[in-house]
Amino acid sequence: MGAYALIGAQWGDEGKGKVVDYLASKAQWVARYAGGNNAGHTVMNHGGTFSLHLVPSGIFQPDVSCVIGNGVVVNPEVLLEEIKGLSERGVDVSRIYLSERAHLIMPYHIQIDALEEEARGRASLGTTGTGVGPAYVDKASRTGIRAGDLLYLEDELLPRLKRVVEDKSRILTKLYGQPPLSLQEILDQCARWREGLKDLLRPTSFLMQQAIERGDTIIMEGAQGTLLDLDHGTYPYVTSSSASVGGAAAGLGIHPRSISGVIGVFKAYCTRVGSGPFPTEMLDEQADELRERAWEYGTTTGRARRIGWFDAVAARYSQHINGFSSLVLTRLDVLDGFPSVKICVGYELDGELLGYFPSGATQLQRCKPVYEEMPGWSDPTEGATRMEQLPAEAAAYVGRLEELIGCEFHLISTGPHRDETIMLKPMI
Ligand code: IMP
Repeated sequence: MGAYALIGAQWGDEGKGKVVDYLASKAQWVARYAGGNNAGHTVMNHGGTFSLHLVPSGIFQPDVSCVIGNGVVVNPEVLLEEIKGLSERGVDVSRIYLSERAHLIMPYHIQIDALEEEARGRASLGTTGTGVGPAYVDKASRTGIRAGDLLYLEDELLPRLKRVVEDKSRILTKLYGQPPLSLQEILDQCARWREGLKDLLRPTSFLMQQAIERGDTIIMEGAQGTLLDLDHGTYPYVTSSSASVGGAAAGLGIHPRSISGVIGVFKAYCTRVGSGPFPTEMLDEQADELRERAWEYGTTTGRARRIGWFDAVAARYSQHINGFSSLVLTRLDVLDGFPSVKICVGYELDGELLGYFPSGATQLQRCKPVYEEMPGWSDPTEGATRMEQLPAEAAAYVGRLEELIGCEFHLISTGPHRDETIMLKPMI
């Protein structure tokens, strides 16, 4: 019982979807608290392979209710499509609840995301183009449209929307030479969304509070990763939400004291998609081999992910930001067969060893990784379900990562399917 935050500890794409799906059988609730459909969580189970962008990864467990919290930005079109797709594949979608306070990604947010990226030119951030950033901008500038507003379309939303549409049209026409927006078109869209979403809308913070009082177990499903967090990531090459544990309480409307544990999900190596500093990036054939072997291509955008060795400096920083109480290691099997594996144990900057993760992207860009090299393993870890099945070198690698991060792995994933998992200690 209690709420457990499950956090991406690197640059996203750590394999959180599989872990949530695996743990969800012990929970009554799985709740997303941040991000939007820039996230892509892959779940493989008896029903096939599913790519989820907004619906929490607990949806495949018959007794789990799924919450899209107030901290998430929701593209109604994507959510309705996703629910329809799941339903057509036989998944019960009757237990999805959407916070009335969640902000909506409007069509102009997607348009502005693309135009801003184009205007940045060579300095582009490599966003997912889903409008997530501009939607959070409007939330902060108090011009956002919330899911609950759809219920009061004519009397409350219409006058506000009219002003927003005028403002956005000015930006689009004057700054970007685009045609103005049509208020009527947007209103018609809102009316359609209201029909599709009205039965899902709930005061989700209250639902969560009641669940906590009952002693239910809640998994707070993180999106993206700590190094993409708006405050703590590699700014400005970050997403626009609080992806780390700090965002979990705010994004669901529960108090921090109800968080019983913080689970950090690390991949056995690093990946990053989009622009930004990446000290351990590998630019050789080994990276290409690993990318193909692990199919490291974005679930949302299909972009090739950048590949790097495990960065223990960044990992320690992530531990410091989140205070993980247990860790998960994913995709260990991807390293099977490499003659040796490297771990970055320090950064060198201007001839000096840096003892911390720098806050400036330019500074981080200039950091040179200091590596520790360990022997690889030729016997497969793929599909292992017990620690004793791991080759000694793989076990040593896991042990060294634990030492460097300062926390224990309680679960190791050795393949994409539910049963390809080594459960060492209960986490929730
Ligand atoms: P945005 O979130 O679309 O604004 O993109 C900002 C940065 O975060 C870009 O570098 C994206 O590639 C990255 N990003 C956003 N969502 C994810 C994710 O789910 N996994 C990995 N990277 C992401």
